Amino acid sequence: MKEKFAAISGASSGLGKSFAQQLAKQGHNLLLISLPNENLSTLCYELELQYNIKAICYETDLSIKENVWLLTDWINKKYSINILINNAGVGGTKKIEEVSTDYVERIIRVNVLATTILIHRLLPNLKENNEAYILNVSSLAAFSPMGYKTVYPASKSFIYSFSRGLYQELKETNVHVGVVSPGPMKTNGEITRRIEKQGFFGRLTSRKPDDVAAYCLKQLRRKKPVIRVNLLSLIVLHVLPTWITLPILSNKMKGELNVE
Ligand SMILES: NC(=O)c1ccc[n+]([C@@H]2O[C@H](COP(=O)([O-])OP(=O)(O)OC[C@H]3O[C@@H](n4cnc5c(N)ncnc54)[C@H](OP(=O)(O)O)[C@@H]3O)[C@@H](O)[C@H]2O)c1
Repeated sequence: MKEKFAAISGASSGLGKSFAQQLAKQGHNLLLISLPNENLSTLCYELELQYNIKAICYETDLSIKENVWLLTDWINKKYSINILINNAGVGGTKKIEEVSTDYVERIIRVNVLATTILIHRLLPNLKENNEAYILNVSSLAAFSPMGYKTVYPASKSFIYSFSRGLYQELKETNVHVGVVSPGPMKTNGEITRRIEKQGFFGRLTSRKPDDVAAYCLKQLRRKKPVIRVNLLSLIVLHVLPTWITLPILSNKMKGELNVE
């Protein structure tokens, strides 16, 4: 019998690191994935020491298709995974005319393609368990298009829709699929500056990544297909029509254009 692992992408910092810490605390072995040179081995070492679990690290750039295939081949050959958290994601606030094609392509490759291929290729592995869980990290941005972000909200809408469909298709199996659409979280310097620029509204809606991760894991265990954090913002986005949210949110994003 192979030991079981929880695989988490984007695990070296932010929400991904919070997922890793909390699953380690609950006694899960971890398979942590990050971009190269993000100090992932130190995190693995610390978690192993602190929680007496196994933590394996794998550094790769998920925007490259071959890397996603190599990663999934490696996992399938060596490990049994019963939790998969697709947390890696890229975004940003920029004018579409001022970014390179590579910039746009990278968002789609990491957020959409890598997530989809990881799930598709790891599903047989997950199905070998009595119970297995997939959690996909979407965003509140999935629920309204917005100028100056354009590709990011569209990619997160894909994640939301894909996750809901997948949940329905797999609901009679041992694999539960959940999706979370967080609002702002102060996970890195740039995002923190953006949230602070939003003033009172930013402070009101932002959540701590540790709290979001804890809540998500609890709801995932309860087999909730849609995990709702930032309930107020979600209700507002569902109630208001796009012709109202689109110009308001685009205007807000325009105000963020010069935040580095
Ligand atoms: N922060 C927010 O306000 C917010 C709001 C809504 C949704 N989200 C979503 O929540 C998730 C986590 O966000 P976060 O704010 O904690 O982190 P983040 O700083 O936005 O970065 C996400 C992580 O994704 C990984 N990543 C990015 N490009 C990658 C690539 N090419 N290959 C492999 N990994 C890559 C990186 O992980 P490593 O550094 O470990 O390599 C990076 O730290 C993302 O999906 C994000 O879209 C965030």
